[in-house]
Amino acid sequence: MVWERLIRDELKPLVPYAPGLREEQVREASGRDVILKLSSNEHPDGPFPCAIEAMERELAGLNRYPEGGASALREKLARKHDVAPGQIVVGNGSNELLRLIAQAVVRPGDEVVYAWPSFVVYPIATTMFGGTHVRVPLDASDTHDLDAMAEAVTECTRIVFLCNPNNPTGTIYARRAFERFLTRVPHDVIVVLDEAYHEFVTSAECPDGLSFFDGVRPLVVLRTFSKMYSLAGARVGYGVMPQPLVHALDCIREPFNVNSVAQAAALASLDDRVEVARRREENQEQKTYLYSGFDRLGISWVPSEANFVWVKTEKPVEVFEGLLAEGVIVRGFGTTPALRVTVGAPEDTKRTIEAFEAVVARLGSV
Ligand SMILES: Cc1ncc(COP(=O)(O)O)c(C=O)c1O
Repeated sequence: MVWERLIRDELKPLVPYAPGLREEQVREASGRDVILKLSSNEHPDGPFPCAIEAMERELAGLNRYPEGGASALREKLARKHDVAPGQIVVGNGSNELLRLIAQAVVRPGDEVVYAWPSFVVYPIATTMFGGTHVRVPLDASDTHDLDAMAEAVTECTRIVFLCNPNNPTGTIYARRAFERFLTRVPHDVIVVLDEAYHEFVTSAECPDGLSFFDGVRPLVVLRTFSKMYSLAGARVGYGVMPQPLVHALDCIREPFNVNSVAQAAALASLDDRVEVARRREENQEQKTYLYSGFDRLGISWVPSEANFVWVKTEKPVEVFEGLLAEGVIVRGFGTTPALRVTVGAPEDTKRTIEAFEAVVARLGSV
């Protein structure tokens, strides 16, 4: 078995990342023309008009390699966040940055602490580089238990991944709990704050990770253009981190990791703060609509600070299948008694509730 010997043992427990079902797959099976894809926390609207224009302008220059250092985008982000351009790495989505950080610091046997359930890429990145998983369950309100996570840190810990708001539960940890956590975690452990959904947050309780960044402590803040800015297909995210870590990541990343169309789109998107505020407000209104619909159907849900809602059900597989039959794709997590439902446009949330209603009528209680 040549492949058995060739492929690294650490990789053997891994299975490929399973993306949400595609609309075409469900269209055929459900017999419905219009499919609602609520499984990947994408924004229902397209990219900002200024981003589309910027991308179109970029197309004729695709014979050239992109600017490898993404310097214009780095500089603009540095001004926005009041950090130095040399404290920023732009990635092919923030996903790439999660992997690169693990690659830069995790040696076989090093411990990586993360909450569970949380974003699936933390365990993948840990396994990929031979790290030891230290999973800390969310607390009874589906929130990071930061005291337990601080407790879980040992002298073998290299990274703690925190996801705020947490994917898949949409919960946040509060500023006070985070401040206490930071005082307890030693300064030779990298704390990675994955804030992919930060732009949707409305709670004043939610800490802005960047306000804790001083360029010295090994703290990393990751943000993405995939969610609020509707650029998931372009693949662009960024991390703010101390300069020595930027240097390490610049050395190991693919030299042209972010394509020029994505760089142009991200750069333009940063100008439209009005649209960000409008989308945040609309997301909030649609969540409120979903909450009241779920209440009416007797379905319990977890208050979310993101663009998705964690819906509790004792029959996750049946409800998932029932929604598919209604042409609605949500995200299931095996037998975990909950489903993650992305917040759609106003017409989508109405249909989401109608689909749940049909499923409840068929299954009795859910
Ligand atoms: C918590 C979290 N972090 C990171 C990402 C990766 O985003 P991207 O690679 O598109 O920037 C996602 C995507 O779903 C996410 O949910």
